[in-house]
Amino acid sequence: ADPDLAARAAAAKATLGERVFILGHHYQRDEVIAFADVTGDSFKLAQLAAARPEAEAIIFCGVHFMAESADILTGPHQKVILPDLAAGCSMADMATAEQVEQAWDDLADAGVEATTVPVSYMNSSAAIKAFTGRHDGTICTSSNARRALEWAFGARGGERVLFLPDQHLGRNTAIAELGMTEADCVVYDPRRPRGGLSQAQLRDAKMILWRGHCSVHGRFTRQSVDEVRARVPGVTVLVHPECRREVVTAADRVGSTEYIIAAVDAASPGSAFAIGTELNLVRRLSTRHPDKTIVFLDRTVCFCSTMNRIDMPHLVWALESLVRGETPNQITVDPDVATPARKALDQMLALP
Ligand code: 13P
Ligand code: SF4
Repeated sequence: ADPDLAARAAAAKATLGERVFILGHHYQRDEVIAFADVTGDSFKLAQLAAARPEAEAIIFCGVHFMAESADILTGPHQKVILPDLAAGCSMADMATAEQVEQAWDDLADAGVEATTVPVSYMNSSAAIKAFTGRHDGTICTSSNARRALEWAFGARGGERVLFLPDQHLGRNTAIAELGMTEADCVVYDPRRPRGGLSQAQLRDAKMILWRGHCSVHGRFTRQSVDEVRARVPGVTVLVHPECRREVVTAADRVGSTEYIIAAVDAASPGSAFAIGTELNLVRRLSTRHPDKTIVFLDRTVCFCSTMNRIDMPHLVWALESLVRGETPNQITVDPDVATPARKALDQMLALP
């Protein structure tokens, strides 16, 4: 890390004081996390976005869909800033509003849209969240996907769920947490007519999984798990539910980034973990626990390139622009989209 940039960030942050609130996702670089007022997984950051209503500016060190959600959840006087507008998410880009509307039309043609509940992962655009709200669905994150599905099939009375856009989180949660089977799940491929499914398949499925995935977590394989077990005797394999089903079934434990952190923090000295999630977080855990063996599940998997776009030059630029009275890279969601999207986000925040 460049000491000049760290000093400039510290000086600008001190000048801004309470006027700025910096949120950092666990996948951010160490040098950026050092300036975060709060860190968290997607769910915690959604809860905390509104925690400082007096802050005029919220700098979101994460990716675009997170900044959009923060804008939806914060007051109209608060400006949400994404230090690099190119920090998107390849998974969120895998479901466009047009494609999802088409899928809903396909469900209507099969006569089942009224009994289908959309459950959308936080990792989706504001437009997808708005679609979800308009159809009385909910948002979920990796830490409450189980509760979201239980609500969809329970209090909400759905017969099936359209799960967007991460097929792996949807499948892992349905099978491991709700006792469903592979046969209850179908994959809707937006590039194919009617998702590549028959009307009977759409009707009979309990989980209609969107064909989307995380380009980082999707790269861990069953072989990654087998190799690390051979390399590190007695290792506990801990993975994120965005990993493929074959990886989750071969692992010892599965959970969101907050869950992974808590599991490692609570383990006794001498424990060994192989962790299948983003590399910045795994490295930070390894540094924080020199008394534990912490290895990355697969050495060929890289950082999340878009999370990594938020670096010190961008953070310093954002902070110094605010000091000059400018508002750089502000993320704003149109009210027509924000209102139904907020309904779906509020439904998530109200899950039992
Ligand atoms: P969580 O923050 O819910 O663990 O999700 C991980 C992720 O991929 C965020 O982009
Ligand atoms: Fe998107 Fe995966 Fe990166 Fe998260 S880790 S921002 S899901 S590409």
